[in-house]
Amino acid sequence: MLLGTQKINTRGRLEIGGCDALELAEQFGTPLYVLDETALRLRCREYRTAFENLKPDTDIVYAGKAALNRALCQIIAEEGLGLDAASGGELYTALQAGFPPARIHLHGVYKTDAELQMAIEAGVGAIVVDNFEEIERLVNLLTSLPCAPSDGKASSNLPTTTARKADAEFPILLRIAPEVDAETHPLIRTGQRDSKFGFHLLNGDAYRAVERILGDPRLRLIGFHCHIGSQISDLSAFAAAVQAMATFAQSVQQRYGYVAPLLNIGGGLAVRYVPEDNPPAVKEYARTLVDALRAACRQYGFPEPALGVEPGRSLIAEAGITLYRVGAVKHVPHEHPDLPREYLIVDGGVSDNPRPQMYGARYTAVHVGRRAEPHTHPYRILGKHCETDPIIDCAMLPETRAGDVIALLTTGAYAYSMSSQYNRYPRPAMVAVRDGNARIIVERETYDDVLRNDR
Ligand SMILES: Cc1ncc(COP(=O)(O)O)c(C=O)c1O
Repeated sequence: MLLGTQKINTRGRLEIGGCDALELAEQFGTPLYVLDETALRLRCREYRTAFENLKPDTDIVYAGKAALNRALCQIIAEEGLGLDAASGGELYTALQAGFPPARIHLHGVYKTDAELQMAIEAGVGAIVVDNFEEIERLVNLLTSLPCAPSDGKASSNLPTTTARKADAEFPILLRIAPEVDAETHPLIRTGQRDSKFGFHLLNGDAYRAVERILGDPRLRLIGFHCHIGSQISDLSAFAAAVQAMATFAQSVQQRYGYVAPLLNIGGGLAVRYVPEDNPPAVKEYARTLVDALRAACRQYGFPEPALGVEPGRSLIAEAGITLYRVGAVKHVPHEHPDLPREYLIVDGGVSDNPRPQMYGARYTAVHVGRRAEPHTHPYRILGKHCETDPIIDCAMLPETRAGDVIALLTTGAYAYSMSSQYNRYPRPAMVAVRDGNARIIVERETYDDVLRNDR
């Protein structure tokens, strides 16, 4: 579990991005999110190379819900990926960071009018439409929002850069529930028959949505989208999603003569949280998608569309760690056969990472100052909040004392982005490390930040 640039340095400590992790904890305080910028950039390039070698017209779009801030937007833009923004806040972050709007997709199962308007005015690359109500609200907005006349001159109240031409069609992707039941935690499974996401196939909604969109001069359907879930290791589930989408695209062509130029299969590739995890390589994942697409196109005599993918977790999870300081070591007289009796209470927990509580998510912890020593002593690691918030039920560490720093590995995705101020704890800072340098990319919140919105 020495992920990314992690190493054991000459002092026997954990090093990440060329920085001694114990010194990071001392310099920036704990809890601390640490982002291995090199690991993230290399992973972006691994994705690009894997698809460029097999199918160069693949659109790789980072799912910003995994983690997003200005610096991350800049890194993702520099690495040439697109961005999936799943809310007004994510879209606003990306626009403020100068992310090219044409490379942004707006997602969401309930986009408000304000969110749709922000996307329209910014000129995002696509809105991924999820339901009939949204189509009608989108069309109304496209009709009512001020437009530049078709000669390209801006209307009075919009700057030229954001004004749409009056006769422009807005690019949209249609989200489909592909009825693929991927093996993962039920709360992160999204493509099955009872999913709340997208238009369903069996009841005909997906076809009715296509009809509605093709019949509207303000909308330009650029393809179909699905997302079957997250932390998926079984590549056959992705192949099944491609097959389902190609089958749908082919029957749309037969019914309406519309040939989809793009099939976006979403994200979902698994990562390594514990040593037993063995996620497929990005190369294998790319090969699976491309082979499945080509096989389906051959089967149907369907022209090969471009492919889209939306990795979140598999781009950034392994590039992140969280540093915690141990505050207390308790010897607890319980009788559970599977739980260690020694508890480590650390200075973080459910407010900086709710995944263990929400999904029973598993993690690996390492001793930062004594990374080189055998990790053979069992501890239960718990947070500091007013609930029983185990972070790891049975972690193996060297003998650990109050004041020691431990690192939770693989916390780059869905930790900061799901954090809260529970118990009125300010959120930790995030530092990006690279080639021995550390820079704060998100400041630690203060007590005044906690109070900011109180009246
Ligand atoms: C539509 C969509 N695309 C992409 C993703 C990213 O998934 P992952 O982080 O598993 O790659 C998600 C995650 O929820 C999603 O809902």
